[in-house]
Amino acid sequence: MGSERLKTPELSETDSPPPRRSALTNLWRIKKYLYPYRFRLALLWTMVLLNIIAGLAIPPLVGAAIDGPISDGDLRGLWVFAGIIAALGAADAILQLVRRYMQTTTAMAIEADIRAALYEHLQRLHTGFHDRWQTGQLLARVTSDLGMIRRFFAGGLVFAITSIGMTVIILGQLLFIEWRLALIVAASAVPLFLIGRKFFMGYLPAARSEQDQSGEVSSAAEESALGIRAIKALGRGPLMAARFEKEAAELRDRGVRKSLIASRSWSGYDAIATAAIGAVLTLGSVMVARGTLSVGDLTAFIMLQLALLWPIEASGWVMAHGNEAMTAADRVYEVFDTEPAIRDRPGAKAVDRGAIRGELVFEGVRFAYEDDSREILRGVDLRVQPGETVAVAGRTGSGKTTLVSLPSRLNDPTGGRILLDGTDIRDLRLANLRSVVTTAFEEATLFSMSVRENLALGRPDADEGDLLEALRVAQAEFVLDLPYGLDTRIGEQGLSLSGGQRQRLALARAVVVKPAVLVLDDPLSALDVHTEELVERALEHVLQDTTALVVVHRPSTVALADRVALLHEGRIAAFGRHSELMRTSPEYVDVLSAESEEVAA
Ligand SMILES: Nc1ncnc2c1ncn2[C@@H]1O[C@H](COP(=O)(O)OP(=O)(O)OP(=O)(O)O)[C@@H](O)[C@H]1O
Ligand SMILES: [Mg+2]
Repeated sequence: MGSERLKTPELSETDSPPPRRSALTNLWRIKKYLYPYRFRLALLWTMVLLNIIAGLAIPPLVGAAIDGPISDGDLRGLWVFAGIIAALGAADAILQLVRRYMQTTTAMAIEADIRAALYEHLQRLHTGFHDRWQTGQLLARVTSDLGMIRRFFAGGLVFAITSIGMTVIILGQLLFIEWRLALIVAASAVPLFLIGRKFFMGYLPAARSEQDQSGEVSSAAEESALGIRAIKALGRGPLMAARFEKEAAELRDRGVRKSLIASRSWSGYDAIATAAIGAVLTLGSVMVARGTLSVGDLTAFIMLQLALLWPIEASGWVMAHGNEAMTAADRVYEVFDTEPAIRDRPGAKAVDRGAIRGELVFEGVRFAYEDDSREILRGVDLRVQPGETVAVAGRTGSGKTTLVSLPSRLNDPTGGRILLDGTDIRDLRLANLRSVVTTAFEEATLFSMSVRENLALGRPDADEGDLLEALRVAQAEFVLDLPYGLDTRIGEQGLSLSGGQRQRLALARAVVVKPAVLVLDDPLSALDVHTEELVERALEHVLQDTTALVVVHRPSTVALADRVALLHEGRIAAFGRHSELMRTSPEYVDVLSAESEEVAA
């Protein structure tokens, strides 16, 4: 059954682009996106520092209050201490509030910047990349991975620096109060370090594997949502549910594995820190009893040590976040580091739409899809004269769609070349080329926007007249009767249209561009015979002075074309007028009669 393998569920290792860098390097590369926010970040760090100082000034003050006013019974003096401590506490709280707010908004802004850059990059990558990557994996990168990076910069990194700063200051304070006790605290750092190192080595791969699996689950969910009709129609609901459950269970297992590693380390941390407090309390009490340490100093010491617990615990958390952010950065840079395979050649020329005559020539064009040994096109030679309409016929799977994806460079030939007015299309600017050569595909994709926006996608400056004209040609004037006319929202979040309606809108969208070369992949397949005839009659008018390459399945559509090319076994097996080919090419007769039987049936 096909449903078991809608798309291979494993993202293989080879999908990662070659220049692999360490996760840490990739996280470091994010700094490029922090740069615009440097002043805000500097202010943020200043506040963090003030926070630490305000927080750590309190324990020594408490100690001094115990040894001073409290043991002297000086109530007035105690009020002064209480006032200072309260003021420091309040300042600390306010500072924290402002800092948290700034921290969050800045991190969100940075995340939004990276997301926009990633999206833009995805747009530049060629269709082959999108074929190869599961949508869910890309979605996971654009959403949850970037979220992890943000949480690291907003939370983890701030915690890390705060922890280090606090630890250094506290250790200094402890040494100052009683160096022998401070040595006990310092000694506990050794086992903490060892646990930390072990954690680091186990957590990184565990986090990566969880994040990858999260992408798998998104893919499975997304596929089911898109394919819900097919799944229901085939009665494969339970099977798909089982498949999804399997992926979800795997995600749970990997999440548990990751959390176990974290909680094991954290409880180790806690145990060691608590043991150190116990030791200090015991030895400190002995010192107090002997009179070598004041009660106030011991109190301050313990308070500071308790304050140290927080950075110690936070460091576990920071490492977890840091780890996740590192793997997330890795995954995000897998996409960023993939160079667009189809891009402007150095010195690519701009094309002037007005100066294009529209001669399209295929010269020995070969094509194989990436990671596929089969050559779909094996030396296609075809010359379309300016203004001529050439139909491409061929059996299903013969490579017609593949062939017509080449002139607008959705794919580049693997051999041979394509010339537009004598210039290799790879020497023309891509952005330009696509407004000169416009393609409408059989599977019409409309976007969640108004009809007007959908129509003007290829030519944003088109006016009302252009749109209406294109709608007329495509026999798509039904949109004028929609609830809000041209402003009706369609697509996934809007009004649903029938297959034929969508196809006619997609055709109109291509016609609006008024390209020099119009490429249509079976533009009328979803239309009834009557509508098809109407569209054809209107199209004929448009095609009169436009070079066109039109994939056809039905003999009736062939009538649109001046000449027909028969694609067979990767080559143009026959080329000429329809009537001519009907006489001379049995293969052609075969292909078209097979189709007409379908129509007749
Ligand atoms: N994105 C892709 N990646 C890998 N192989 C592909 C891809 N698209 C198509 N193919 C393969 O290329 C071959 C030609 O497909 P193509 O879609 O060009 O045929 P077609 O002539 O348009 O068929 P149809 O008449 O059914 O539309 C098929 O064997 C198909 O499996
Ligand atoms: Mg096709």
